[in-house]
Amino acid sequence: MRVLVTAGPTREALDPVRYLTNRSSGKMGYAMAAAFAEAGHRVLLVSGPTVLDVPDGVDFLPIETAEEMFEAVKRHIGRMDAAVFAAAVADYRPAAVSEHKIKKSGETLTLELVKTPDILGSVRGDFGFTGTLVGFAAETQDLATNARIKLQKKGCDLVIANDVSKPGIGFDSDRNEVLLVFPEHTEALPEDEKHHLAPRLVREIERLAAERAGS
Ligand code: PMT
Repeated sequence: MRVLVTAGPTREALDPVRYLTNRSSGKMGYAMAAAFAEAGHRVLLVSGPTVLDVPDGVDFLPIETAEEMFEAVKRHIGRMDAAVFAAAVADYRPAAVSEHKIKKSGETLTLELVKTPDILGSVRGDFGFTGTLVGFAAETQDLATNARIKLQKKGCDLVIANDVSKPGIGFDSDRNEVLLVFPEHTEALPEDEKHHLAPRLVREIERLAAERAGS
């Protein structure tokens, strides 16, 4: 299969030296990209800034902002058989990027933020993608319910949900504990290293892709 994987955080600039971002290290997405490559698939990894090495045998497309990730996915998804969205994309960016460093002035500073494009939400409709679509859901409450809403709204075949309020898993950890949310059922996997979970998730996605091809 040809597989597109998104990973890492995005950075949304405020001025030449400051940006809004999040705690994503990229470890989950890079583990997925490595596991797909090890299973013999052709992988394009679209990644925000991380300190990780690009896994062997993986094509790499670095981006910085949500808008750049949107454009990269839009350009490449048409030739993919499957896509896995593990990136933690900023939902909002500063409405304006100051040309110069913002000077300290009053006691408070109000930022105006505007929505970024919903990349996963554009894949089925706007980009016309008919391959196997897998999203992640980073939740702090009602994990299964919120993940199922994402599955339905975004037209995913699978949403991999993690409770990012739990210490020791999720953002910037080597470990994760995920709930697999399929259209007809859910399955909880025990906590494990991300690089052990990834091959298990790849086998699940291979099965979904085979089902899609056969239907
Ligand atoms: O990178 P690590 O440190 O290893 O951490 C892993 C992780 C916690 C980041 C990962 O397991 C994870 O949960 N990734 C999704 C994070 C997220 O932003 O979730 P969300 O519930 O806000 O978004 C739902 C889905 O929509 C995700 O697949 C996300 O990639 C996608 N999305 C979100 C916003 C946006 N503008 N465009 C998107 O495509």
